[in-house]
Amino acid sequence: MDSILVTGNGALNGQIPIAGAKNACLTLMPATLLSEEPLTLTNAPRLSDIKTMTALLQSLGAEVSTLQDGQVIAMSSHDLTSQTADYDIVRKMRASNLVLGPLLARFGQAVVSLPGGCAIGARPMDLHTEGLEALGAEIELKDGYLHAKAPGGLKGAVHEMRFASVGATENIVMAATLAKGTTVLKNAAREPEIVDLVECLRKMGAQISGEGTSTIEIQGVDRLHGATHQVVTDRIELGTYMLAPAICGGEVELLGGRMDLVGSFVEKLNAAGVDVEETANGLKVSRRNGRVQAVDVTTEPFPGFPTDLQAQMMALLCTAEGVSVLEEKIFENRFMHAPELMRMGAQIDVHGGTATVTGVERLKGAPVMATDLRASVSLILAGLAAEGETVVSRVYHLDRGYERVVSKLSGVGAKIERIKG
Ligand code: EPZ
Repeated sequence: MDSILVTGNGALNGQIPIAGAKNACLTLMPATLLSEEPLTLTNAPRLSDIKTMTALLQSLGAEVSTLQDGQVIAMSSHDLTSQTADYDIVRKMRASNLVLGPLLARFGQAVVSLPGGCAIGARPMDLHTEGLEALGAEIELKDGYLHAKAPGGLKGAVHEMRFASVGATENIVMAATLAKGTTVLKNAAREPEIVDLVECLRKMGAQISGEGTSTIEIQGVDRLHGATHQVVTDRIELGTYMLAPAICGGEVELLGGRMDLVGSFVEKLNAAGVDVEETANGLKVSRRNGRVQAVDVTTEPFPGFPTDLQAQMMALLCTAEGVSVLEEKIFENRFMHAPELMRMGAQIDVHGGTATVTGVERLKGAPVMATDLRASVSLILAGLAAEGETVVSRVYHLDRGYERVVSKLSGVGAKIERIKG
């Protein structure tokens, strides 16, 4: 297994290009199952999760090919041969469950393995099944698989979700595009990736309104046609790299960055003493003084502070002046980066969903282990400003969600290399 060696190397300066959003691409790709005509995505990120989704769609009989070094994904699900998403793929990537709604809508049946737990939590699918059952689906759990069917087709309905789940919103919206009649989805998630999905579905002929708000209305249509869609910028990669100059000092411009994608995150950066300026090419980030100030953070559904930036923000707050309290309200076990940061000298006290971080002057490099996608990059961020060398192992976690980390960070002056393992 490869590892990444980072050596604290002072301020960072220059530009980092931000890729297309992993979590948008992972819901846009299954949308191809809704139509027999081709769907092409541009600005796609080059990530192992995208390869996993490609393999899943191909296992269903879809044609998926990547062009332009992986940045264009051309898909066609004209001749599907299966409606079963196998456990060996779904357990590797939970987002595989996003084929459930599209398969049910187009074919009236789907067999999708439950993803099983993952590092950050149990991550059940009850919100997905409740919504699809509201549309008339009959779903039974057997041998770890959800067996879903809608023999007479799905029917529009009014449904309020108990929690604004991102994936459940995506599955229900995709299913509703081909249901008979109108669906009103209440307490829908408002993430930009859902707005991006709806914009793509609309290009395919779907009749949808309200995306980005808590109430999304879908008028079912008989069929959807093909489209070409550009994947929205990845707000989590953007936020991650915005923290690099915040932690190290210097000034970095994030190319393609958009303020509307990271509103509440920028508020917290400003409160900590980090300036963010909109430029013609994206967002420019620099630290106001030599040391950032402690801030409190609570993760919430969009437009609140994103849970996917919690680990990275903790890396910044480890060397802030003062005590910060981070509350993780979305997942039940998302502080696994804390013990690894403590190996680097961070002072963190974790109780349940609350982590209290007492800032220290500087962290010390150490061998640390990645435990999940966002934890892995928070350890790299911490290593950028730590004294001495940090070796982050199990970087396969990193490859799931961050393309070309070494070249992007070394391009702004970081001392970082990948060690083949
Ligand atoms: C999406 O996961 C993202 N993944 C996650 O990003 C992100 O952390 C999460 O949304 C929250 O923003 C993709 O988009 C591929 P949820 P998802 O359904 O859809 C509970 C990353 O690092 N829940 O909004 O699975 C669940 O257990 C990943 O890129 C139920 O209880 O998130 C969790 O506690 C990690 N029942 C909470 O809701 C359900 O049926 C939020 O889950 C579904 C979810």
